[in-house]
Amino acid sequence: MRVCVIGTGYVGLVTGACLAHAGHHVICVDNNEAKVKLMQSGQTPIFEPGLSDIMQAAIQSKRLEFTTDTAAGVEHGQVLFIAVGTPALLNGESDTRYVEAVARSIGSNLNGGYKVIVNKSTVPIGSGDWVRMIVLDGIAERQKSEAQPVLASVGGGDADITTTAVVGEYDFDVVSNPEFLREGSAVYDTFNPDRIVLGSSSDRAIALMQDLYAPIVERQFAEHASAPAVPVVVTDISSAEMIKYAANAFLATKISFINEVANICDRVGADVMQVAKGIGLDSRIGSKFLQPGLGWGGSCFPKDVSALIHTADDYGYESQLLKAAVSVNERQRLIVVEKLQQVLKILKGKTIGLLGLTFKPDTDDLRDAPALNVIENLSRLGAKIKAYDPIISQSGMRHGLSDVLVETDAERLADGCDALVLVTEWQQFQTLDYAKMAKLMHTPILIDGRNFLDQAALEAAGFRCMGIGR
Ligand code: UDX
Repeated sequence: MRVCVIGTGYVGLVTGACLAHAGHHVICVDNNEAKVKLMQSGQTPIFEPGLSDIMQAAIQSKRLEFTTDTAAGVEHGQVLFIAVGTPALLNGESDTRYVEAVARSIGSNLNGGYKVIVNKSTVPIGSGDWVRMIVLDGIAERQKSEAQPVLASVGGGDADITTTAVVGEYDFDVVSNPEFLREGSAVYDTFNPDRIVLGSSSDRAIALMQDLYAPIVERQFAEHASAPAVPVVVTDISSAEMIKYAANAFLATKISFINEVANICDRVGADVMQVAKGIGLDSRIGSKFLQPGLGWGGSCFPKDVSALIHTADDYGYESQLLKAAVSVNERQRLIVVEKLQQVLKILKGKTIGLLGLTFKPDTDDLRDAPALNVIENLSRLGAKIKAYDPIISQSGMRHGLSDVLVETDAERLADGCDALVLVTEWQQFQTLDYAKMAKLMHTPILIDGRNFLDQAALEAAGFRCMGIGR
């Protein structure tokens, strides 16, 4: 099938590369020329395990192309994915201007033949119809500028919107197809999804999308090819949009819940890790997303929870539960600073070393990373901050890190520190030479902000160690 993906961020690039790997002919469009050149050479602008291998293979087999030319991409695609960012505005609302620009440019470049326009970006509930109207506007604008009006109707979708006069034989539907991939395992998640959600009122569009995803639904690229077919959930557009927000809000709330329990465990002398295991084995609760720590960050949870709160507010409903999940999360990020104050008392002039900076391991992403709040607070309290992160230390990326001395390895980090704080649970932090690091430190104290390390082993290596809720 011919596919066009507009926007090559995490979601767009991974979707494009994986669909090409699954046998489709994909053109990815991005307006950043330098990035397009980089991707044409098979390099990935993001750190994502396994992505560059499948990109290179798909480029070689001529099933994956990159361009800045939207018109060429739109002409090529039977399925057109909108996969541009919807960052949060200051009030928590989603900024949909990039989606709007892409929808308009799809309209103004639409050629003949039936097309499915897919909202892959996480868009506010109700955006399916809105995208459809913008595409129609784009078509109308182009026809006005060409000044050759020939009235025609637009197929599928809701009758009330087709009142917009359009020109030419343009036939399209809009589908909401939210993305659930996690950074750091995005390729794995794409080929091993728990479900595929398709929201549309058009049977024709759903049928085309089912063909597109057939290789994934049939587990042709899955880790366990014998697993049952991937469930496909077909809904109306608004419900599909809501599924994305509700899934992220639920997971974020689940993490805030276990962090709340961890903080109570800290006070009563219970071990939250044992508690999480004990409750997670209840199949109604489930063991995933019960890892206590510094809380949730990244490009999705904070933005999507805020957007859902904002949408509810717009409809006169105050979401008390989601607001509480956010405030628990904000407080959670600073728990390690409180623990440092408990052991070191005055932080002014003390040197604190951060193990890890990214919002989670196996990514180079610092967006809304808890590390940034820890840094801001330590810096406000007059501490000197050093950090070592396996990716950030090498990448030269220093945005938001002006107060931090970024070291090139963990031993340099430890040298002269009054305490270390594990912020991100990079696997390699489990095998560092902690005995050597303890000797290099001024005072060998370690706050494990993710309950990731073996406390007994650390204590044997000479550390005084504190976790979260244990
Ligand atoms: C998330 C969703 O999982 C994904 O389905 C959606 O499409 C995008 O948002 P991502 O942001 O990549 O993916 O990371 P995820 O692994 O879900 O972790 C999110 C945050 O929660 C991280 O900061 C992580 O450290 C934190 N987290 C996760 C916990 O603190 N505890 C947990 O048990 C799980």
